[in-house]
Parts: sequence; structure tokens; C-alpha cells
Amino acid sequence: MATASRHDAWAAGDSYDAYMGRWSRPIAGRFVDWLDMPEGLAWLELGCGTGALTEAILRRSAHAHVLALDPSEGFLAKARKNVHDPRVEFRLGSAADLASLPRACCDVAVAGLVLNFIPDRVPALRELKRIVRPGGTVGFYVWDYPGGGIAFMRAFWTAAVALDPVARELAEDRRFPFCTREGLAALVEEAGLPAPEIAAIESPSIFRNFDDYWTPFTLGAGPAPGYCASLAPDARERLRARLSESLPRQSNDTIALNTRAWAVKTQVA
Ligand SMILES: C[S@@+](CC[C@H](N)C(=O)[O-])C[C@H]1O[C@@H](n2cnc3c(N)ncnc32)[C@H](O)[C@@H]1O
Repeated sequence: MATASRHDAWAAGDSYDAYMGRWSRPIAGRFVDWLDMPEGLAWLELGCGTGALTEAILRRSAHAHVLALDPSEGFLAKARKNVHDPRVEFRLGSAADLASLPRACCDVAVAGLVLNFIPDRVPALRELKRIVRPGGTVGFYVWDYPGGGIAFMRAFWTAAVALDPVARELAEDRRFPFCTREGLAALVEEAGLPAPEIAAIESPSIFRNFDDYWTPFTLGAGPAPGYCASLAPDARERLRARLSESLPRQSNDTIALNTRAWAVKTQVA
């Protein structure tokens, strides 16, 4: 079971938005609604990517300020284009850079679809706890990979593994088995944070047709697209054909799948 994969490609913001950003945006909005924070807080966002969660925070809080970190220059460039707003500062930085921030420097620290990609996630959570003021909130969400909560990705890996058993170890459900209600509660406890509230948040992912589903996988941004882009043309074509046969279509050619994330929040003592 590998935590990091050479296919974890976080560089091209346009490709990421076509593959994941369009589905991470609605989930981000639902997460911020569920957090239900008061107005005017200072937020720290880890792994902001192209700005899905950043935008959701700013849209729901007129007087929020967000410091948004990501280690990818390419994603930050896209985030700056997506979110023109004086209330946010996008800054190059990873979980390891949290140590340079002062203790209790923000009210809320959040991370959307990020924690599983951080190999040292317990120290990262401890850092989020350290930088939040007493009484503040640490919140995050990850896809419910083990429960098949991101159906378009599960369908991709099911087809890929049928053609190439090596792909089994690359699939996110295998890499991130802790992304369950129990696993996330244990992670939060290990980081020394109070017992969290955990909820499933869901959103549909409706693809216009098969091309709308398939093309983002060919763009190389993220683990599954990174794997797809690494295939020789004939192997990629076999994968495309298998998926085209297996995905359920509606009469109007759309492919309707679901996404589900586990949302976690805890109050710092
Ligand atoms: C699936 S994307 C999520 C992006 C965005 N939050 C969203 O919801 O669309 C994962 C993000 O984690 C970032 N990332 C990867 N490793 C990281 C680390 N060690 N520390 C902080 N962010 C990291 C990537 O650059 C990428 O932007």
C-alpha cells in the first residue's frame, strides 16, 4: 500500500479543474455550510489547489480573510485567476511550512481533499491545531475512497485493474484505507485533537456524455489521470473502450454518478 504515487501529478491547474475542480467545488460549498462558522474569521487553508474551497469560504463570509497555501505553483496560478479577491492571500507552501506560522494565528484551519496526500498527516494535523487559537476550529474533508464515494474514479480504476493488475496498488481506495469515519476519528485522536464531529457530504457528478467523462483522465492532473497519461496509446485505447462499455448511460447519453466525502470538524481546546 503506497501513500504517495509517482502519478500524483499536481501541476496543471486547467487540467485539474476539468478533472476534479468541477466536482470539488460543490463539495467545498457543502463543507463550508456544514462548518457553520461565524462572520469575519481568519482562515488558514492548506492545499488550496485551484481555489475551490477558498472561493466557497469567501462566498459565504463577507468579512473573512483566508491565507491559502499550496505547494504547486501551477495550481496557485490558476487559483489566482479563479479567485480575484483582496480577502485572500495565495502563498506557496506545503504542510511542512505550517511550522513557520505563529501559534494561534488563525480562527479556523481547513484542508479540502488534501490530508490523504500528505505522507506525514498526523504531524500536519498537530500543526493545524497549533496555529488555531483556543476555541477555534480545525476542519477537513477527504473523499470516501474505501466506500466507493467517488464513483467516477472507482469506475476508472475498476476498468484499469481489469486490464493491468499493477494499477490495483495505485487506486486511491487501496492507498488511503483510513478515509472512513472510524479511520478519520482515530487520526484526529492520534493528533491530540478533541473527538471530532464527522458527517458524510454528497453531491452528484453528471457527465454530459462519455467524452466529458473520459477526456479529463487524459489530461494528466491527479493520480488517475497521471496513470492514464503514462499508458502507451494502445493500452489507453483499451482502457477507454472498456470504460465506454461499462459505464451506465441515461437515455440522453449523460452519465450520472455520485460523490461522497467525509467531513470532519473539531474544536481546539
Ligand atoms: C485533490 S487536490 C485538492 C485541491 C483543492 N483543495 C480542491 O478541493 O479542489 C490536492 C491538493 O493537495 C496539494 N498537496 C499535495 N501535497 C501537499 C502537502 N504536502 N501539503 C499541502 N498540500 C499538498 C496539491 O498540490 C493539491 O493542490
